[in-house]
Amino acid sequence: MRHISEYKKVAPSHFFYLSLMEILDGKLLSKNIKEELKHEVNVLVSEGKRAPHLAAILVGNDGASETYVNHKVKMCNDVGFGSTLLRLDDNISEEFLLEQVERLNKDDEIDGFIVQLPLPAHINARKVTLAIEPKKDVDGFHPVNMGRMLLGHPAYLPATPYGIMQLLRAYEVDTSGKDCVIVGRSNIVGKPMSVLMARNHKYGNCTVTLCHSKTNDLELKLKNADIIIAALGKPEFINADMVKDNAIIIDVGITRIPDESRKSGYRLAGDVNYADVAEKCSYITPVPGGVGPMTVISLMKNTMKAYKKQVYKS
Ligand code: GUN
Repeated sequence: MRHISEYKKVAPSHFFYLSLMEILDGKLLSKNIKEELKHEVNVLVSEGKRAPHLAAILVGNDGASETYVNHKVKMCNDVGFGSTLLRLDDNISEEFLLEQVERLNKDDEIDGFIVQLPLPAHINARKVTLAIEPKKDVDGFHPVNMGRMLLGHPAYLPATPYGIMQLLRAYEVDTSGKDCVIVGRSNIVGKPMSVLMARNHKYGNCTVTLCHSKTNDLELKLKNADIIIAALGKPEFINADMVKDNAIIIDVGITRIPDESRKSGYRLAGDVNYADVAEKCSYITPVPGGVGPMTVISLMKNTMKAYKKQVYKS
């Protein structure tokens, strides 16, 4: 791991006297981790060993899922991992999908695999997740891995929470004793983040409030938070009036907003109104370039752990 000073990137100089805000640069950190993984793979291969191998099952043609899976496959190529993409028609039976999961469970050449979610409505996603061998569950979605995480045992952490924890560590963000408000209670982000931020750990030790669509006085809770983790999926929902001075902001949201001034026809927005909030904060993740790039690289780190069989040693 490189030294913290390499990740330090303060706001542009005209902000300097207003704020000591620091950007948590996921693009830079993920690039550095990518180089480290690449180096590790090169060493393994030069010693005559096979490279780590990740497989992904993609069912149907959901556009967002295709984009995510393509990013994962590309990242495998970039770091030198082998990858297998199993594309299946959206009308396959649940039984057929479970057979494919079983095949990957038994394949010794495959260290870890994921089944991209969401699955078509006729397939029970819970049943599929349960069928994945926990040792190969590099998404960390299986109840065994979620349970291990909850108990503080070595486990595959879901990629987005794992990526956020790596950002906090790389920038040596002091979280201990702070009030952390998480907005969104998904199994993939909000719930695991609540466990990780509350655990007895250098980058934890927070008092956590997990907010959701039925939370009363959300704005008041946000205004009192030292750390806000926004994962509600509402673009630019959090503005400067909802945030206290020097807050630490982690923005997990990423939504395409139509924008005719752009060649692409859209821009990407987080759940936080960055332009409004940034100069009030002590740290903030930008969108894009914050949490997003950390998610894919964290899946690669889990795959390397699966290859080395690190997680289930203890
Ligand atoms: N769908 C959205 N995010 C994820 C993820 O991290 N893993 C899988 N398997 N599906 C997803």
